[in-house]
Amino acid sequence: MVQLHNLGPLSAALTVGFLSITPAIAIPSPNGGQDLQSSGRRKSVEVQAHRGGLGVRPESTLYAFAHALEIGVDVLEMDAVFTKDGVPVIWHDDQISATKCKDTTGNFVGQYIVNITLAELKTLDCGSQQISGHPQQKLFPGAQIQTLSEILDLVSCVGDKSIRINLETKLSPLAPAISFPPEKYITSLVPTLRKHNMAQRTTIQSFDWRTLVGIKKSFPDIKLVALADATTIVPASDGTYPWLGGVDLRDFSGDWVKAAKSIGADIISPRWAVAGTTVNSPTYRPFLTEEMVRVAEKLRMETVPWTLDDEVSIEDAIVKGVKGVISNYPERVIAVANTLGIKAGKKGKKVPEKCLKNGGTRV
Ligand SMILES: *[C@@H]1O[C@H](CO)[C@@H](O)[C@H](O)[C@H]1NC(C)=O
Repeated sequence: MVQLHNLGPLSAALTVGFLSITPAIAIPSPNGGQDLQSSGRRKSVEVQAHRGGLGVRPESTLYAFAHALEIGVDVLEMDAVFTKDGVPVIWHDDQISATKCKDTTGNFVGQYIVNITLAELKTLDCGSQQISGHPQQKLFPGAQIQTLSEILDLVSCVGDKSIRINLETKLSPLAPAISFPPEKYITSLVPTLRKHNMAQRTTIQSFDWRTLVGIKKSFPDIKLVALADATTIVPASDGTYPWLGGVDLRDFSGDWVKAAKSIGADIISPRWAVAGTTVNSPTYRPFLTEEMVRVAEKLRMETVPWTLDDEVSIEDAIVKGVKGVISNYPERVIAVANTLGIKAGKKGKKVPEKCLKNGGTRV
């Protein structure tokens, strides 16, 4: 997800105690079904660890995803990009950032991943610098960027068959030179998921709806998540909507939720705010609204907003009726939901040391 605001240190860690009633497979069950309590609130909230939960571990590393499994999240949220030699790797950025990774033997910091081979990428140390604004992040010096297959191996090594993945196709229709074309994302990801028996437990999410449209056509059984924020649902100067995969929003009276339904999305994933750090910020302007959740529900889609890190915003989203919450601090989602009398997450599972063997050279 595009993270525009890094949140500062928030309240202290809360205790985590919970039970699982989450189904093993993401079957959209619109709000209004048996998922509701008599109060009208949901009985459970799905917890998604954003890039594995970058608030507490170096993002997208094996250590992040392992920690998320240990605290009992429902869904590992992650991004896929392709290396120069065409291998899908789990990393959010197109370009290697000096704030996250350090060169060891090569000179790859600052380069685009599309120009770096997997072997070269593996020389980077992406676990020894703490990301700004996240002082609880524990470091794992030497942690490497992982391939999609390596992350899927972690999930099978841990052996929890209820764990799900929310995998983003990371590319921009506005910057074609810095990634592989949409076809690569459309044709390569699902076969890799299938090889690891994870396709039925994975949703594919994207701001670039071209990839969703293509995956729907080639793999109609894959569940799709339409990502959006205030910048992706507006027309370009020529009047087209570059992010929306050929959809013209004017055909839907400007309603991106209805447009998402038209491309076969099962879930909508809006940014929670247009502006403001939390829902209590004086500058807060919502993007996620209760109306949006209701329109989605009527169209038999679920709503899972991103990326909510503070307790007040998490509570606000839960009260609006979302199915799940994507957070850099998944333990906060669990704690807030539990405080509201709503179940969240599942029983965590200790990750055996052997499952982390490919995490990188600890230096
Ligand atoms: C990839 O490398 C080539 C050759 O050095 C360069 O011309 C091109 O701009 C690079 N692409 C990106 C996205 O950095």
